[in-house]
Order: sequence, then C-alpha cells, then structure tokens
Amino acid sequence: MIETPLTLPCGHTLANRISKAAMTEGLADPRDRPTAAHQRLYRTWAEGAAAMLLTGNIMVDRRYLERAGNVVAEDAAIVAPMREWADATHAGGSTLWAQISHPGRQCPRLANLTPIAPSAVQLDIIGNFGRPRAAAEADIQDVIRRFAATAGWMKEAGLDGVEVHAAHGYLLSQFLSPRTNLRTDGWGGSLENRARLLLEVVAAVRASVGPSYPIAVKLNSSDFVKGGFTLDECLQVVKWLGEAGIDLLEVSGGTYEQLEFFKPQTEVRDSTREREAMFLKYAAAIKAVATMPIMVTGGFRTLAGMEAALASGDTDLIGLARPFCVEPDFPRRLLAGSEKPLAVDEDRLVLGRGFWGPNSSSSSLRALNNQAQAGWYYHQITRLGAGQPPELDRSPLRAMVAHFSNDFVKAMRRKFA
Ligand SMILES: Cc1cc2nc3c(=O)[nH]c(=O)nc-3n(C[C@H](O)[C@H](O)[C@H](O)COP(=O)(O)O)c2cc1C
Repeated sequence: MIETPLTLPCGHTLANRISKAAMTEGLADPRDRPTAAHQRLYRTWAEGAAAMLLTGNIMVDRRYLERAGNVVAEDAAIVAPMREWADATHAGGSTLWAQISHPGRQCPRLANLTPIAPSAVQLDIIGNFGRPRAAAEADIQDVIRRFAATAGWMKEAGLDGVEVHAAHGYLLSQFLSPRTNLRTDGWGGSLENRARLLLEVVAAVRASVGPSYPIAVKLNSSDFVKGGFTLDECLQVVKWLGEAGIDLLEVSGGTYEQLEFFKPQTEVRDSTREREAMFLKYAAAIKAVATMPIMVTGGFRTLAGMEAALASGDTDLIGLARPFCVEPDFPRRLLAGSEKPLAVDEDRLVLGRGFWGPNSSSSSLRALNNQAQAGWYYHQITRLGAGQPPELDRSPLRAMVAHFSNDFVKAMRRKFA
C-alpha cells in the first residue's frame, strides 16, 4: 500500500504514499534567497525516495517572517534560484512542492515589531512577538495578491505543486480562529467570514496556476486551545475547500500556544494507533466530508502504523517531518519493508516534564521546550545542508542555545544586507 501511486484530482500522480512535510530550513541568504545548502539538503532527501518533498514555509512578504533564514518569494527574481532548488530535488528522484505562508502575529520581534494579524491580539510567548495591528482591507487584499503571485513564480520555477499554509497559528489560521480573529467586518465573526481569507487565497492561487497544477492546503484539525478553531469548524472548512477544488488536504493541529506534535509520545496515553499518529483520530471525520485526498502528518514512525493508517482509509498519504532529520533516507527503508525503529529516541529530546515541560501551564515554558526540540532538528537540517551526516547525540539544550544565537546573527546580517 505504501508503495502504491496516488493520482490527485488535477491529474498529477505521486509515485508512492510518503511525503516529507514542511520544515523551516533557516538556510536562506541575508537577502532571503535559497542557497546551495537548500539544493544539497533536498537532493539528499530526494534520494530517500519519498514521492514529494514540501519545502519549509516560504514567505509571501519580506516584511513578515516566521524566522530569519526564511526564503521569501515576492518578485520574479525568485524564479531562477527556485529552479536550481527544484532541479536538485528532481535529480535526486523526488518532486518539490512549495509551502507558501504568512506568519501574521507569529512573526518574531527581530523580523518586525508590529506585524499584521486579523486583530490586535498579541502572542505572549517569551516576549518574542510584538503587538500586531489589525490588518486593514488593503493589507488583506495585498495578502491575497501575494499568495497568488508567489504560487505563480513557484510554477514558473518548475516546482511540482504549492501548499497554502493555513495551520499552526499562522496568518490564515489566525483568521480562522475566534480566539485571534475578533473582527466585526466581513472577515470575522461567523465561520463563513473567518474562512473567507483562506478561500479567497485558494481561489486566487487557482486563478494564478491554472486548473491542472496541484494545490494543497495544510489545515488544523483543531487548534487545541480554548476558544480556538475546532474540529466541527474544520469539517465545514474542508467541505468549502472541496468546492474550491483543491487537490490535497494536509491535516495537522495546534498553534505556537499549543504545539501538539512536540509533546512526548510516552505521555500520550491512549491506543497504539493514537500514539503512532496524533491527528489520525480526527482524520476519519475529516475523510467522511472530504472530496480531495488527505495527508495526515504528525507522529508516524513505524511501517506497521503507516500501513494500518492507509488500510483504514482515513488517510491517503503519510506526512513525515522529523524522521527526515534523523534518517534522511527513512522512506527508502520503509518502502523496502524495514520495521527497524527510527535511529533516535525522540522523547530524549524533551527537556522537562511537569513544571516546565510540555504539560506546563505556562505557554512560555512550553514554548522554550519546543524551541529546544526544534533547535535539535534545525541543527540536523543545517548539517545535512552542509553535506554532513546527522549528529544524533547532540544535546537539545546546546541545540536550543545555538538556535537562538544563530537566528539572532541571521536576523542582524539580514538587517544590514
Ligand atoms: C524543525 C521543524 C520545522 C517545522 N517547520 C514547519 C513549517 O515550516 N511548516 C509547517 O507547516 N510545519 C512545520 N513543522 C511541522 C511539521 O511539518 C509536522 O507537521 C510536525 O513535525 C509533525 O510531524 P512529524 O511527527 O512527522 O515530525 C516543523 C516541524 C519541525 C520539527
């Protein structure tokens, strides 16, 4: 099953059922362009035999980053370096899809002190994020135009598809959530209004790339925070996305306030199936209303778990992210039928439990823990981009400190470039 090809509604065929989910690389040069490190990294991953590789989130607006080191695509000059990136991926045997994104309020102060968001609701995590201003009508129209233009350049550069990032608490996800969207105009209030920006972005992207080019959307099954976007709301948005004619829906969950996928798996006390794939239990409900293929991402680690998920019919594709940092050729091993566990105990990377661990009541402490884990994976991504093998015994604490200082240096270089 895992080796079975899948044809998407637009006619594009994926060679098997494994996809590398997006992971922000932080490898752009000080002018936000992709580099030789992206090419090395994706060539290595492409040789791992996954059907598709999603890029880390590519920003549609230079003013608003998710992180220093993001690639930004806001004019046609991006086409040539993106083409080199796509060529390197194709040479390794995989396809490359661009994840396109706007961070909204999840934009660090180092990038912008006053980002835009649906409403002026600040994200209070380690003092890292400025107070956003509510987007004006002109800002919203600009965002729609930017997503469409970026998608067009990705197509022109030879990328195989685009994914609109509407999950994890970034701008489109902020509009969906009544916790962050307090607007009383046509972009807020009812679910129909909160989903309007996502649907207008998808329509503009479709108009930009044409009917036969693959468009995916990454959507939260739930935000997992009080007053956030819920599963019931997700089901309705999935129906609308079906009517909008998207080709693939990636199901994830959580926002910076509650990043579900960084919780240690040993603390998720439920059935084996749930431990294996954290959002799979929501996928059955989503699948029941979805008219497009579904990709569930988050927690898949064993061949048996992936085969069971595919056989249940609740997902059509398996999205994997962190395993690619540990074993870049993990999919090849799975496709060859290997049941050997992943080469690292991921729970070792979780720094604390209880007081300041992932279940802490303080969102800042939870975020710090997430940063340690993210830092460990960023370290592996940087090594792979430099042509080095992963360094699995790296301490997560050291990785976190290095991550903070590296991102600071990158932000400064960018400021003075
Ligand atoms: C280091 C790192 C960077 C990530 N960057 C992104 C990103 O740019 N866009 C995105 O949608 N998700 C991002 N994610 C989330 C992953 O795509 C995925 O949803 C999550 O890691 C769960 O999958 P996994 O258990 O297979 O790792 C990132 C995750 C990690 C660990």
